[in-house]
Amino acid sequence: MLAGKTVREFKIDDTEVVFRYPEMSDAKDLERLINSLIEEKAAITLDREQSFEEELSWLSETLKNVEKGKEIALVVEVDEKVLGSSGVRKKEGNESHVGELGILLRKGIRGKGIGEKLIKTLIKEAKKRLEIEIVTLNVYHTNEIALNLYKKAGFEEIGRLKDGAYHDDKYIDVIIMSKDLR
Ligand SMILES: CC(C)(COP(=O)(O)OP(=O)(O)OC[C@H]1O[C@@H](n2cnc3c(N)ncnc32)[C@H](O)[C@@H]1OP(=O)(O)O)[C@@H](O)C(=O)NCCC(=O)NCCS
Repeated sequence: MLAGKTVREFKIDDTEVVFRYPEMSDAKDLERLINSLIEEKAAITLDREQSFEEELSWLSETLKNVEKGKEIALVVEVDEKVLGSSGVRKKEGNESHVGELGILLRKGIRGKGIGEKLIKTLIKEAKKRLEIEIVTLNVYHTNEIALNLYKKAGFEEIGRLKDGAYHDDKYIDVIIMSKDLR
C-alpha cells in the first residue's frame, strides 16, 4: 500500500518539505490547492472551481490507479499542509511504455527549487514503479516558468497544437514535450 508513503524529505530555510503519496485525508487540502490555482487563472487544464465531492472522487480514483501500478502521484507537504500535487499516468496497450506528467504548486512555495526536486523525484519513481520509457507533458506556450523548468529537467519540445487552449480570454498554443528515459 503506497498511500501516505514518504519518498523524499528535505528542508528549505528551516521548513520541512515532504514528497509523499497522497491519502484520502488530503482531500480538503487538495481541494483548496486546485481551487487556489483556478482562482489565480494558472496555466492548467481545469478552469472551473472543483467541489469537495469532485476532489474526493478524483483522489479515490487516483489512489486506486496508484495501487494498480497505472499511475504514480506525489503531494508536497510543507509544515503539515499539502501545497503541491503531481503525478505520472501510464498510457495503455501499445503505448504503455509512455507516461504523462503533471505538476502544480501553490503560489507561496514557488521559485524555491521545489518544482525541480519534485520533477526529478517523480521521474525516478515513475521509472521504477510504472516501468515507463518515455515521459510526455503538455504546457501552454505562455507558461515561461514551467517551460524553463521542463527544459532544465531535460524535456524537449516535440510538437505544438496551435490555439490548443483558450486561457485568460485568448487562444494560446499547447506545447508537447517529451523526455526519453532509456
Ligand atoms: C511550474 C512550477 C511547477 C515550477 O516549480 P517551482 O518550484 O516554481 O520551480 P523551481 O523553483 O524549482 O525552479 C526551477 C526552474 O524553473 C524556472 N523558473 C522558476 N521560477 C522562474 C521564474 N520566476 N521565471 C522564469 N523561470 C523560472 C527556472 O529555470 C528554474 O531554474 P533556476 O532556478 O536554475 O533558474 C510552479 O511554478 C507551478 O506549480 N506553477 C503553477 C502551475 C503550473 O504552471 N504548472 C505547470 C503546468 S504545465
